[in-house]
Amino acid sequence: MIVLDGVSHSFDDRPVLRGISAELSERRIGIIGANGSGKSTLARTFNGLVVPEHGTVETLGLDVRRKRSEVRRRVGFMFADASAQIVMPTPAEDVALSLRPQGRRRRGGPDDADITRRAAEILGEFGLGDHLDAPAQLLSSGQKQMLAFASVLVTDPEILVCDEPTTLLDLRNVLLVRRRLAALEQQVILLTHHLEMLDDFDRVLVMDDGAIVFDGAPADAIGFYRELAAR
Ligand SMILES: Nc1ncnc2c1ncn2[C@@H]1O[C@H](COP(=O)(O)OP(=O)(O)O)[C@@H](O)[C@H]1O
Ligand SMILES: [Mg+2]
Repeated sequence: MIVLDGVSHSFDDRPVLRGISAELSERRIGIIGANGSGKSTLARTFNGLVVPEHGTVETLGLDVRRKRSEVRRRVGFMFADASAQIVMPTPAEDVALSLRPQGRRRRGGPDDADITRRAAEILGEFGLGDHLDAPAQLLSSGQKQMLAFASVLVTDPEILVCDEPTTLLDLRNVLLVRRRLAALEQQVILLTHHLEMLDDFDRVLVMDDGAIVFDGAPADAIGFYRELAAR
């Protein structure tokens, strides 16, 4: 659950979000709109990657301005540019890093063998079973996207925010991501230009020039967006 109240933000005096208020409680929410309409900036306010100049964002009942690190831990975020999200030299190590308890090793936490096994398992599910120990930066863009997805999902976030996660993927992987998202219990917020991914969503927001200009069922929202784009 994310509650936005009067959220406004500017970059270099140029308004990018203009007083957005919304209660995002549905399990599957899509956000669509033209390039530059403010989708990514809005999504980044959900977990404090962007702290808006005005207004409040409450995520999982926490004021993001004051509880930023807790919110960051509990909300998974996937970027369009997966390379930026991959921090370790190989897929196996990257996923293992997500699995390892932060800070000093907690008693009862997973041991190294568990972590290695779990990392291999999820990478296999994401089509990277043959690339566990390959140099991550040499993976194709689509494979990097799948790795980033595995690294985020393995942490079992309470909310998953995905910013154009399928932009670089082939059809098979688009369908794979779609199935994985559909199977998640958690709340998913998906920013995408792959409009067909939103067919079975509960709610879709259309953004234009920093505002939510339509908010409703997927078919209606997509219809509205198509007309807006054709203007
Ligand atoms: N960190 C930043 N610094 C300056 N301008 C930014 C920054 N991030 C986004 N913008 C600008 O804000 C506007 C909205 O960007 P964005 O939220 O990424 O839109 P969208 O995701 O809908 O394409 C764009 O004009 C973009 O150039
Ligand atoms: Mg964007």
